[in-house]
Amino acid sequence: MKLIAIHLQNFRRHGDARLELGEGVNILYGRNGAGKTNFLEAIHYAALTKSFINASDAECLKFGATHFEINAEWESDGGIRSTARVYFSNEQGKHVFVNKSELESFAKIVGEYPCVALSPFDLALVQGAPQERRRFLDSSVSQTNKAYLEDLLNYRRALTQRNKLLSEMKGAPSDAQRQSLAVWTESFAALAAAIMFRRLKFVQEFAESLAKAYRLFHSFSETPTIRYDSDVEIPPNATKADILSEIQLRLARIEEEEIRRGVTLLGAHRDDLDFQINGVSVRKFASQGQQKTFVVCLKLAQHFYIQNILNEKPIFLLDDVFSELDRDRASDLVELLKPMGQSIITTTEKKQFDNVRQILIDDGIHATAR
Ligand SMILES: Nc1ncnc2c1ncn2[C@@H]1O[C@H](COP(=O)(O)OP(=O)(O)O)[C@@H](O)[C@H]1O
Ligand SMILES: [Mg+2]
Repeated sequence: MKLIAIHLQNFRRHGDARLELGEGVNILYGRNGAGKTNFLEAIHYAALTKSFINASDAECLKFGATHFEINAEWESDGGIRSTARVYFSNEQGKHVFVNKSELESFAKIVGEYPCVALSPFDLALVQGAPQERRRFLDSSVSQTNKAYLEDLLNYRRALTQRNKLLSEMKGAPSDAQRQSLAVWTESFAALAAAIMFRRLKFVQEFAESLAKAYRLFHSFSETPTIRYDSDVEIPPNATKADILSEIQLRLARIEEEEIRRGVTLLGAHRDDLDFQINGVSVRKFASQGQQKTFVVCLKLAQHFYIQNILNEKPIFLLDDVFSELDRDRASDLVELLKPMGQSIITTTEKKQFDNVRQILIDDGIHATAR
């Protein structure tokens, strides 16, 4: 996938700015605060309808403006052109259009413009809460599997409903409430099983991509492993039906406790990923440098994984990663990225690289190719 051009109106600090990009590696350079990260954020919106740093739509609205708009021109690896438009205003909310027709659900765009983003905030993937790792998991699987994203959205709705009911049942549940809980539990368990099954499959397949990333980016003998961590005990090679019966069994066992506490205590929303290097926890025992390498490799691996499944190279957004790596590692990374399709890298200083398009981001008003 390739982004040919992107036009921003009232997005972050950009009132009206157009950026044209080339094949392969593109570097956006310019002083701090020039609006480089803002551009990557807008590109992420054009691919996945949201920010990669978990900012809200309203935060991206230029101070004092009433609406923002992003227009992107894409070209697939097979040469098919399309446009994506994201519109947001506080009154009308967010609207997404592909080739000028409005999408009834944002989920529809996910996977159409495969995209991987890496920023300094991603250190949270090893250091942060389980939620960060589930987000990584869900983003990887959703971009390659539309049914998964649908299940995930339905799961979240079922969980909200089930929690609402449980909180109403707290204390003295009626028979009618117990019957309704049984109905919600049935659909909740089926969705949880579908999600866990797909995530397990992902973890198995992803191991190969992660090993490849380590081979390419890391010269020392370190072996990364990734494991799916769940309260539900899942034997190796479990089928979806095995997982479902285990979940049902566990939910039946904890039902009274859930009613007492008024909340769902088991499910895919509580699972986690366990990252290890040479058999020890990355979070607990790896050095800062090893953790950074691990995160870079996770994202490289995500790129390999998505490309393998979709047969389309995702665009790769790298925000300020050079400042996190020393100079040799930075040029290693650029060399590695060259055959990987289009990548867009932000940095404060112009760098010496061959065959790389370097674009100066000026006062945030426009960008010029150099
Ligand atoms: N919603 C907004 N409206 C206007 N300006 C904003 C908004 N959000 C951030 N900015 C400004 O954008 C600038 C940061 O842009 P950024 O893309 O992060 O810069 P950099 O080039 O260093 O990556 C800051 O000066 C900030 O004040
Ligand atoms: Mg920045």
